[in-house]
Amino acid sequence: MSDYQRLREWAAGLFRGEKLTLRPVEDADIEMLCDWWDHPDITLFNEGNIVRRRREENAEMFRQWAANKDDSGFGYAAEADGQLVGQVSVHSIKAPAMIGKLGMVVGPEFQDRGYGTDILEVALRLAFTEYACRKVELIVFGFSDRGIHTYEKVGFQVEGRRRGSVMHAGKWYDDVSMGIMAEEYFARRPRPF
Ligand SMILES: CC(C)(COP(=O)(O)OP(=O)(O)OC[C@H]1O[C@@H](n2cnc3c(N)ncnc32)[C@H](O)[C@@H]1OP(=O)(O)O)[C@@H](O)C(=O)NCCC(=O)NCCS
Repeated sequence: MSDYQRLREWAAGLFRGEKLTLRPVEDADIEMLCDWWDHPDITLFNEGNIVRRRREENAEMFRQWAANKDDSGFGYAAEADGQLVGQVSVHSIKAPAMIGKLGMVVGPEFQDRGYGTDILEVALRLAFTEYACRKVELIVFGFSDRGIHTYEKVGFQVEGRRRGSVMHAGKWYDDVSMGIMAEEYFARRPRPF
């Protein structure tokens, strides 16, 4: 098969996971994303402080994450069976380091169904095979057992802990840096062709 044929197949499947597809965030998604962001199960794990912001501020944040205006990263909605189930972005990729920073959310009612794992697989594929990332990294709070487990499952490693960085219920918690290098990604997944 020629590269012409292989690349056409590759492009056709690039945004597809096992259970979902990544697609642009549309205006119609913003209300749902704002609802999620205001949900305690999301805010607790994504913001240092449990904060409730004006809806328009959260809407603007999602619009910015999904703008895809240049080559420094991407932001997409995840759709399964016609429903919005999550959002992911990999941003701040720049030479010479070529390190992408990953942020994601799975809607509260869609968690623990394998969507997060699937979103990560598609986002890492994009980051390492289309955006030339050398590494993808993220920060997760030390109490986020499910997040840490999910990131380790797809190949992220714990790289460090920033002690006592976030307070909840009067107690300090660490945040945890995790990363996956391109060679670690490709060691676990075959090169496309
Ligand atoms: C963390 C998150 C992205 C994971 O997505 P998800 O769709 O729920 O994840 P999946 O269903 O693909 O996988 C969840 C894994 O965590 C495991 N898990 C669930 N609860 C757990 C817990 N309390 N402790 C450890 N592992 C747990 C599941 O068993 C599953 O692992 P397995 O496939 O090995 O059985 C998603 O739950 C989320 O957005 N949570 C709220 C916000 C958040 O935590 N964000 C992280 C910010 S960095």
